[in-house]
Formats: sequence, C-alpha cells, structure tokens
Amino acid sequence: MKISVIGMGYVGLTTAVCLADIGNEVVGVDSNIEKIKQINNGVIPFFEPQLGEILNRNINNNLNFIDDIEKAIKDSDIMFITVGTPISETGEVDTSQIYEVVQSIGKYINGYKVIVTKSTVPIGMNNKIINILKNEIKVQHNFDVVSNPEFLREGSAVVDMFNMDRVVIGSNCKKAIEIVQEIYKPFDTKFLITGFETAEMIKYASNAFLATKISFINEIANLCEKVNADVLSVAMGMGMDRRIGTEFLKAGVGYGGSCFHKDINALVNISKMVNADLEIAATAERVNNNQRKKIVQKIEKILENDVRDKTATILGITFKANTDDIRCAPSIDIIKMLKEMKMRIKVYDPIVNKEQLKELGDIVFCKNVYESLEGTDVAIVLTEWDEFKNIDWEKAKKIMNQKIIIDGRNIYSLNEIKEIIKLGYKYNGVGRNIV
Ligand code: UDX
Repeated sequence: MKISVIGMGYVGLTTAVCLADIGNEVVGVDSNIEKIKQINNGVIPFFEPQLGEILNRNINNNLNFIDDIEKAIKDSDIMFITVGTPISETGEVDTSQIYEVVQSIGKYINGYKVIVTKSTVPIGMNNKIINILKNEIKVQHNFDVVSNPEFLREGSAVVDMFNMDRVVIGSNCKKAIEIVQEIYKPFDTKFLITGFETAEMIKYASNAFLATKISFINEIANLCEKVNADVLSVAMGMGMDRRIGTEFLKAGVGYGGSCFHKDINALVNISKMVNADLEIAATAERVNNNQRKKIVQKIEKILENDVRDKTATILGITFKANTDDIRCAPSIDIIKMLKEMKMRIKVYDPIVNKEQLKELGDIVFCKNVYESLEGTDVAIVLTEWDEFKNIDWEKAKKIMNQKIIIDGRNIYSLNEIKEIIKLGYKYNGVGRNIV
C-alpha cells in the first residue's frame, strides 16, 4: 500500500514520518515548496521532540516529500488529509483547505483510493466529501472515505503516535475500514469503528471534555486560595479515584494552543445551529479566559496596585513546554493586559524567537533567565519549561528589583516554595495560597 499524507503541519508530518518508520511507503505533500525543501534536507519546520531523528532515519528510503499533489494522488492507494481547519472570528470552521484537497482528488484520481480525513472537521464533512466527489465532480473511479480523527498533542506527538489510546475509524465501508486497520496494526492499539458523524463528534467531544476538566480544576484552584486548601493535593486526591483519573487536572493559567479554543468554539457553534446548546463547553471557555485575568489581578495585588512603569518578567511564552507554538498562548493575552497597565515587559523563553513576538510591540526580548530577571519587579512563570525549575533564586535576588514570583504553572513543590520564601521572596502560585 502506498500512502500519501497531504498537509505537512505537526499532525501531517508526524503521521507521515511515523507511518514510514513502521515500514510503509509514504509521500508527504505540501503546497509550500520552501517547507518541502526544508523537510527534504532533514529539518523539521517546527519544534517537535524526536521527530527529526525518525525523519532522518527514513527519508529517501520509503519516505519522500513533494509539492506535487497530482503525483501524490496518482501514486498512492491511501490518502491521509491533514490540512489545517482554522476557526474564523465568529467561531465557524474554515474548511477551505479541505475543499481544495478534495477538488484535487476529484481531478487526479486514477483508480480506487481510500481517502482518510485526519483533520478536525465539522460534523457532516466526510459525507460532504463523498457528495462533492460523486455528485459535483462526478468522479469515474471508485473511492471510499474514512473519518480518522487525530489525538496527537504538540510536544509529545511522536510518543502519542506510538502509544495511541485508540484509533477511531468512521466509515460505512468494510473494505476501507480493514485497509485503515491494517495500517495501524503495528501500533498495537484499540480500534473503535463508528459512522462518520460519531467519529467526527468523538474528536470534538474529547477536546471539549479535556478543556472542561482544566477549567474545572482552575475554578477549584481559585476556591482553594480562598479556603486555604492546596489544589495540587486536591487534584491528586481526586485523581486517585479511577473514575476521575489524574490527567488534565493541573491548575494554572488556563489552556492555550490552537486546538482546544478552536474545537470548543466550533462545537458550541455547531450546537447552536441545531438548537442543542452546550452550556458546559461554552462555560469552560469563559472560565479559561478569566483565568488569564486572575493572574493579572494577582500581579496587581502583590504589587499593591503600584504597577505603572514597574517591570514584569515573563518566563515562558509557548502555550505549554516542548513546543515552539505560541498560538492562543496565555502569555500573549497576559502580556497585552500588563502593557495596558503600563508595565514594562521583559520576556525569556528557551525556544521562541524575537520575530514570533513582533505583534507585541515594545517588549524586551532576553537571551537567558538571569538577563530577563535583571531589574525586574515581578517574575511570572507562564510555561512549565524544565529550565525554570532550576532557577537559582539566591543568585536572582541580587539582580531583581523586588523579590516577587508569580508561578502560573505551579512548577515548585511545597518544600521548594518554603526555601524560596526563606530567601525573602513573596511567592504566589495557583490554588496554593502561599504569600
Ligand atoms: C490537544 C489534545 O490534547 C490533543 O488530543 C488534540 O489532538 C490536539 O489538542 P495540544 O493542544 O497539543 O493537544 O496540547 P495539550 O497537552 O492537550 O494541552 C493543551 C493546553 O492545556 C496547554 O496550554 C496546557 O498547558 C494546558 N493544560 C493541559 C493545563 O493547563 N492543565 C492540564 O492539566 C493539561
């Protein structure tokens, strides 16, 4: 079986590279020729642990990258669609890239093909794809469509690919289901076979549920601060109940990244169109936006409202550790709010470059932690990069203007916090009530 993967974002490239690594013949396609050149030189166009290594051990053997979609379609039996489906301001999913790929498939199809939709698409999209190909383009060749949503997390996409909890296969065609199952068999995972709409819904419902879990623990954290409880222990105690589970119960600055925000809003939008309002999902998103404001309120409170012209150091810009992605990152909103309060901003992130932050205007971009802490009034941890766990606060206190730490990710244990406080710092985490 020859596979093509169309769209070389983190999902597409990870899928292409890992499918090649388990022995398939794979071609990755993207219309961006610069990106293709870069990948062909063995370079990943974004930061994703382990991916470069696996790319380089497979490239040019059974793994190739081209910008010629016609060739990719003609030469493959199975096509994975992994193009982006961003969201508009009004919450609608922009499926134009999917439509473009489907038009190309309609134009170049030259025999039986299995079309696998991996991108997150609105409910009903896979049926629409069949309709377009059969009734609009009137393709003469046989084909089947399979909905196969992706669940990869940025920063651990390779680990997730080789340790999948499940593969969801939505299709009404036994032959296509068997073909896709055969591809995933070496990953030794569980399969769930459903119809199109159910598969599409599983993706949205999973992301909405995970986001809701985070917003729930963030609200509990805010309450913990008022009643003198510790949210880390609360989450641990809750998570020990197998019905709840320990994952996605880390309180902090709220979730970021392109997926949760995009998918929750798309789902809420879909629910409105069919008069089945999703109040919990909509509230999860509202709580998440408020969580960023809570951090800003903490900064104001700890600085006793004397914020004008004071310097804030932002430690960590990416929406989580081990990625270079800053889309919907809490840090971006928080910096904007602090700037509105006329604070001076210094930033340090181990991966992010100055160019990525140009829309923020006047901020001081620093090359290391200590440069960023020099002369600052408050250090604010917004990404849980390992590097921040090893900051020498003894050394830092000699260069900081005021000894204040806001830990938006709860990166320190209670014992470490005690040591930090002994050094004379004011420390404030999320849901920990220690000042
Ligand atoms: C998510 C889904 O997890 C993945 O299945 C889907 O395919 C794509 O969207 P991703 O956005 O890459 O993946 O990252 P994820 O690890 O889910 O984290 C999302 C955000 O939630 C991050 O900002 C993270 O810091 C935050 N988060 C996560 C918390 O605040 N607390 C937690 O306990 C877990």
